[in-house]
Amino acid sequence: MKAAMIRVLSVLAFLSLAQVAQAADAPAKYAASCGACHAYGVAGAPKTGDAGQWEPRLAKGMDALVASVKNGLNAMPPGGLCNGCSDEEYKELITYMATPQ
Ligand code: HEC
Repeated sequence: MKAAMIRVLSVLAFLSLAQVAQAADAPAKYAASCGACHAYGVAGAPKTGDAGQWEPRLAKGMDALVASVKNGLNAMPPGGLCNGCSDEEYKELITYMATPQ
C-alpha cells in the first residue's frame, strides 16, 4: 500500500518537472508568433527542430535571417507576427527553431 503511494507521488513529481522543462525550452514568444507557421512547416516554412531544413537558411548568416523576418519573406509577414520582438529575441527564436528538438 505504501509502495503504491510512493510510486504515484513519483509519477506526479516527474510529470510536473516535465512540464516545467517544456515551458522553459521554447522562448516565451515562440508559441504566439513563429510557432503558428514553423511548428508544422506551413506554406514552406522551415520546420522547428528540423536541422536539415534550417541548414541552408543558417548559411545566409544570422543577420540576414533576422532581416528576412523583419522585412517579411514570401508567405512570412514582416515581423513574423511578433511586432514587439527585438533583434535579440528574433535571434533567440531562430536559434531555438534551428536546434534539433
Ligand atoms: C505566417 C507564417 C509565418 C510566421 C508567423 C513566421 N514565419 Fe518564418 N517563415 C515562413 C515561411 C513560409 C518561410 C519560408 C519563406 C521562403 O523562403 O519562401 C519562413 C522563413 C523563415 C526564415 C528563413 C529566412 C531566410 O532568409 O531564409 C526565418 C529565419 C524565419 N522564418 C524566422 C521566423 C521567426 C523568428 C518568426 C517569429 C518571430 C517567424 N519566422 C514567423 C512563415 C512564417
